[in-house]
Amino acid sequence: MSEDRGRWGSRTGFILAATGSAVGLGNIWGFPTQVGQGGGAAFVLVYLVAVLFICAPILLGEIVVGRYSQLGPMGAVRRLAPTGPWWLIGILAVSAGTFILSFYSVIAGWTVQYLWLAVTGGLESGPEASGALFTELAGQSWRNIFATGLFLAVTAWCVNRGIKRGIEAAARIMMPVLFVLLMILAVRAVTLPGAGEGLAYYLRPDLSQLRDPGILGAAVGQAFFSLSLGMGALITYGSYLHRSHKIRSAAMAIVGIDTLIALLAGFIIFPAGFSIAGFDPATGGPGLIFAVLPQLFATLPGGLIFGAAFFLLLSVAAFTSTISLLEVPVSHAIDQWRWSRRKAAATVGLFCFVVSIPCALSFGGGPAALADLPVIGGSFFDLMVNVWNEWALPIGGLLISLFVGWRWGVAHAGKELRREGPGFPSPKLWGVLIRFVSPAALVFLILLRIAS
Ligand code: PFF
Repeated sequence: MSEDRGRWGSRTGFILAATGSAVGLGNIWGFPTQVGQGGGAAFVLVYLVAVLFICAPILLGEIVVGRYSQLGPMGAVRRLAPTGPWWLIGILAVSAGTFILSFYSVIAGWTVQYLWLAVTGGLESGPEASGALFTELAGQSWRNIFATGLFLAVTAWCVNRGIKRGIEAAARIMMPVLFVLLMILAVRAVTLPGAGEGLAYYLRPDLSQLRDPGILGAAVGQAFFSLSLGMGALITYGSYLHRSHKIRSAAMAIVGIDTLIALLAGFIIFPAGFSIAGFDPATGGPGLIFAVLPQLFATLPGGLIFGAAFFLLLSVAAFTSTISLLEVPVSHAIDQWRWSRRKAAATVGLFCFVVSIPCALSFGGGPAALADLPVIGGSFFDLMVNVWNEWALPIGGLLISLFVGWRWGVAHAGKELRREGPGFPSPKLWGVLIRFVSPAALVFLILLRIAS
């Protein structure tokens, strides 16, 4: 095995790093946005069902493939299924990791700039100015390219340090910080005047909303992104485990913590949002976090500390996710092309930076065509989100579930799980879910996307 491949120092290190991958902008921004657009508590219910029955089995499937093969997605499928089109999983994984990182790091760059503004008093401009501030910030091309590049450079530096000294060490520091910040913010938010209305919106489901099949599609899509599924991130992380490490309880912990943190983010955003006059929970997109919340920070006593803590939280969460996005193509280059870790981290990081430039210029401040692409409509950034999040991840997830459930097969995978002794989920229950339930739900989601 190549020196540069590396290994986790402990099972806890793996759990922290994988949870760090899962917990990101998707939890703190994406989840509340989807709840707001999907009608509140009803969405939360469907989300929980999607996580448990559709996504968790795939998460365990990815980890078991990684631990068994001790290889990233491409190497694993080539070893376990040398014939057939399964190498597509490897191609999808490497490209999704690279391209998702390219736009994800632009948003991460904004979070760092907002953190800077909060610390230096730049958010004090007053409530009305918050929307304008975001439009202005997003349109400042050079600053955004610089912030994105900086974020990517720190990510590449950490990945270059390797599995144990880089990724695991970062997660060990960042994850507790993230949790403490979340708790402080949630307590602050639910004690704001007007918070009750937000809590009711978040917690009291309007069951008539469940008639809309779109909710299930949105919930599965969100859960997929949130759990870092469909692009082999967990195959890669699983491949750095010892064959003797137990993964069933680890998978449950990752799913549990990721979901808990998404739910906690809702306890911050909705009470905080509803405490502002005229708040509309359906304001999705960047507006929710970057324009709405600073209004609150600007008016609260001590709000700037609250604001700084919030943007620090977002930056930390984004960082542990960008690390895993970069690690997928980097481990591919190490395994398949025999590159050194240093060369891989630098080259892929640089490539992502180049692709991130048109993403960063999609919000004004660049050529007009990037903000509104001819023929396709929407910005270059929107196009990237659409292709990679909305299509590549569900298609990758479908292929992975079919691969594990039918090609490599639950007989083999189940045997690998049974080595751990009894535990939850039983290999039998898991086998049924990954063979039938997850693929059926993903086919449904893909058909829904085609129809819309
Ligand atoms: N799970 C991350 C989030 O919720 O923000 C995003 C992500 C990271 C997706 C890593 C995919 C991935 F491989």
